[in-house]
Amino acid sequence: MYEAFFRLTGKPFQLNPDPDFFYGSRGHRRAMAYLEYGLHQGEGFIVITGEVGAGKTTLVRNLLRRVPSESVQAAQIVSTQVGADDLLRLVAGSFQIDVAGLDKSALLQRLEAHFRAMHRTGRRALLVVDEAQNLSPRAVEELRMLSNFQEGTRSLVQSFLVGQPEFRAILQRPEMRQLKQRIIASYHLGPLDSAETRAYVEHRLRHVGWRGDPDFSADSLAQVHAVAEGVPRRINTLCDRVLLAAFLAERHDIDRDLIEDVAAELADELGGPAGGAVLAVVPTGAPDEPVGSTGGDREAGAAEPAGAASAAARIALLEARLARLEASSATTYTVLQRVLRVLRASTGALGMHRPADGEGRRRQGEPGDAGNPPVRAVR
Ligand SMILES: Nc1ncnc2c1ncn2[C@@H]1O[C@H](COP(=O)(O)OP(=O)(O)O)[C@@H](O)[C@H]1O
Ligand SMILES: [Mg+2]
Repeated sequence: MYEAFFRLTGKPFQLNPDPDFFYGSRGHRRAMAYLEYGLHQGEGFIVITGEVGAGKTTLVRNLLRRVPSESVQAAQIVSTQVGADDLLRLVAGSFQIDVAGLDKSALLQRLEAHFRAMHRTGRRALLVVDEAQNLSPRAVEELRMLSNFQEGTRSLVQSFLVGQPEFRAILQRPEMRQLKQRIIASYHLGPLDSAETRAYVEHRLRHVGWRGDPDFSADSLAQVHAVAEGVPRRINTLCDRVLLAAFLAERHDIDRDLIEDVAAELADELGGPAGGAVLAVVPTGAPDEPVGSTGGDREAGAAEPAGAASAAARIALLEARLARLEASSATTYTVLQRVLRVLRASTGALGMHRPADGEGRRRQGEPGDAGNPPVRAVR
């Protein structure tokens, strides 16, 4: 919507993990080096963990582009909470092996035959499992079994496991001992630091033809880093909304106040600390634990209150949700009002639109005007 206003060729802060936008921060470069090292070794497991939005899937997509297809057939699965057999079927599907109707042992045989046939043509298999924290211990065990397929001393299948930080805790369990012995490298992808956040924002902007417009002040970028805590997905969400707000206010400069305003607006809408709700890391039990279990790494206090207290708590929760919903629709209304005004102004300026009597004039008490940020600078 705002791309034309800033003369950009596309949206700079999309949320899809598009490898075209890949920015090699120190952490991302290191993680990539680990993956490439693993690829070079040709066997064993590589584990990459990181918070939601840290850039794991982007990293994997970037890697998959670089895999030499003449020697490696790479396939990726995204693990939802699948059981062990389903996992094998997913793996087969990702390598385009037809296993419909086969029972488990026939399925394993088919997989093995496929990997051996690949080996004869000089290729090996690389399996990338994203969202690995969702794997049940039995599913992990199946992956380990796949790594047992060998030709001479060489493994036919290699796996990269990519997941949220709790995957590390899962790997510490006694039943993971055998898998752990086969991990040749693991790396935790942390957030961007302040300088990297700035470089990241500029990198994404440059990718869509940026020439200094929008103009982020240095302290606005420091504020983006503080609010988003250096997590790329949160940076994207925040910056996308900041550009929308700047467009609606017809300004090209981005200052710290604007970042703060937008962060507060996002927090209001989503009900959480600024930018935090965008990336609420919900504490989850381990995949095979029942929901509500107090074991594992669940945060204290997460358990539901009982009886009447529980009903009251639920009502309070619903009320809070309702309030957030109301605040959110009010914001949407405000945004739409502003869009309408900007569109009217621009079509009016082009002589394309002749408002009827009274149309386009600001009405007293129009809700959309209430939170309109002042226009600070217009180029
Ligand atoms: N190194 C990076 N370069 C460019 N964009 C990135 C990078 N890391 C993350 N992003 C962006 O951040 C968002 C979240 O990244 P994603 O890979 O989906 O995170 P994760 O898989 O860790 O949850 C996406 O919009 C993605 O484009
Ligand atoms: Mg991901």
